[in-house]
Order: sequence, then structure tokens, then C-alpha cells
Amino acid sequence: MESERKVVNIVGCGPGGAAYLTGQAHQAVNEAGIVIGIPKFLRLFPEVKRKIELAAVHTDKVAELVAGLDVSHAAVLVSGDTGLYSLASFLRKALPGCWEVRFVPGISSVQAACALFCLEWHDMRIFSLHSRPAPPELAETVWRGKHPVAILCGPANRPQSIARKLLSGVEPGPDTCRGSVRRRRSKPLSGIEPSRRCYAACDLGSENQIAWSGILCELAEKRFGGRAVLIIDRR
Ligand SMILES: C[S@@+](CC[C@H](N)C(=O)[O-])C[C@H]1O[C@@H](n2cnc3c(N)ncnc32)[C@H](O)[C@@H]1O
Repeated sequence: MESERKVVNIVGCGPGGAAYLTGQAHQAVNEAGIVIGIPKFLRLFPEVKRKIELAAVHTDKVAELVAGLDVSHAAVLVSGDTGLYSLASFLRKALPGCWEVRFVPGISSVQAACALFCLEWHDMRIFSLHSRPAPPELAETVWRGKHPVAILCGPANRPQSIARKLLSGVEPGPDTCRGSVRRRRSKPLSGIEPSRRCYAACDLGSENQIAWSGILCELAEKRFGGRAVLIIDRR
């Protein structure tokens, strides 16, 4: 027998701005009997009649809302791509079983930032400091400098404060033990060069978009907002 499950599409909307929306995103929204999202993303779909506007997309709140919907298709709008530090996977787990959850891919802020600076990202290491502290691997990966590093910033972790912390942080231990680096957390940093090339992409897709490139010690003096992607080049 055909499944009676209803469908909720979690739609990656890119970093913001109509130019970043995909045809699949439009299709999923057009099929939906109701669309849930923050105003910034709902504004990208002015044709939508039935919508629920949220101040912020919180997993529990959205799951509760979707559970009570009386439509066969719904859409939840999320930023960037559904596979990169996205609420999409939390929502998938939280949504009730009578809903079939589908992901609609979007252009991630990291992809958009890389394109802006003509950078490739196939061997990039990606970290998120959006509402979470920096893991020890971040400083270590930058210090080793084998891979470019992309960092999703946040209100509490703006590009310049990350630069300052990296320049005054903690040095990974210099010795390797069967390929892995031993860390000495108490030793002051001396390893990350102030002249390391870096890029900050702020408010992508908006009229306030900033694309800045320079070196780490210059970035430490800037005053960028937290809706930003910081890319630190390899050594
Ligand atoms: C919760 S994460 C979601 C990432 C998203 N899934 C993606 O693929 O871009 C939110 C972070 O993405 C980055 N971001 C999202 N939109 C952005 C934009 N318009 N400009 C710059 N960075 C953005 C910021 O680092 C922000 O803190």
C-alpha cells in the first residue's frame, strides 16, 4: 500500500538573496501548503500565501509546529546548505514519524565565500563557531597550515576576534608521535604567522556584503559583524 506519510522539505536557501536560490528550492516551496521560516528567507518567496514566520528557527519549536499541520506538503527554510552545520539534521530527528523528511540542497555560505575570492574548497577543513566554542583542532589545523580552513563565525565569534585568539592562543606541541601531533596546552602560541593570508566574507548576498582579504594581523584590527565566513589560507 502507498505510504500515507506527509512530506516536509527542509529547504537550503543559500546565504541570502534571491540570486542564490535554486530551482529545486522554488519547486519545494511552491508545492508546500505552508512554509515556515525566518522573515529574511520568507521574503525570498513573496508568492507564498500560507506561512509561519519565526523569530529564529529552533528545532523543538519547528517540530511542534510541523506536528500540528494539516497539509500534505510543508517546507521549512534554513540557511545555506542542509548538510553543513545546519539545523536540517536536528529537525530530521525531531520531526514526528508521520512526516517524510526531505532535504533540498542550497548553496552554502562557504561555497559562496570561496567563489567570491576564487578559492577552491576540495581540501578545506571547515569549523563552526556559530554558537559554540572553538575546538582545539581549529588552532592546530591552522597552525599546521596544510589545508585552508573555513570558519563559520557567529555573534560571539567575529572574524577579528578569531584572528586575535589564533594569534595569541595555544601552540600545538611541536613533536609528532606516530603521525599525530601531541598538544602542550599550557605553552603560549608562537606558531601561527601574523602574515598568514585570510579572507572574510560578511553578510553575503545582502546589500551590506563585505569581501575583505588581507593577513591575519590586519584582520585582528577590523570590526566585522558575526554573520561571516572566515577563510585562512594554508601556509
Ligand atoms: C547555523 S550556520 C548555517 C550554515 C549553513 N548551513 C551554510 O551552509 O552556510 C550559520 C553560519 O553560516 C554563516 N552564514 C550564513 N549566512 C551567511 C551570510 N549571508 N554571509 C556570511 N556568512 C553566513 C555564518 O558563519 C553563520 O554564523
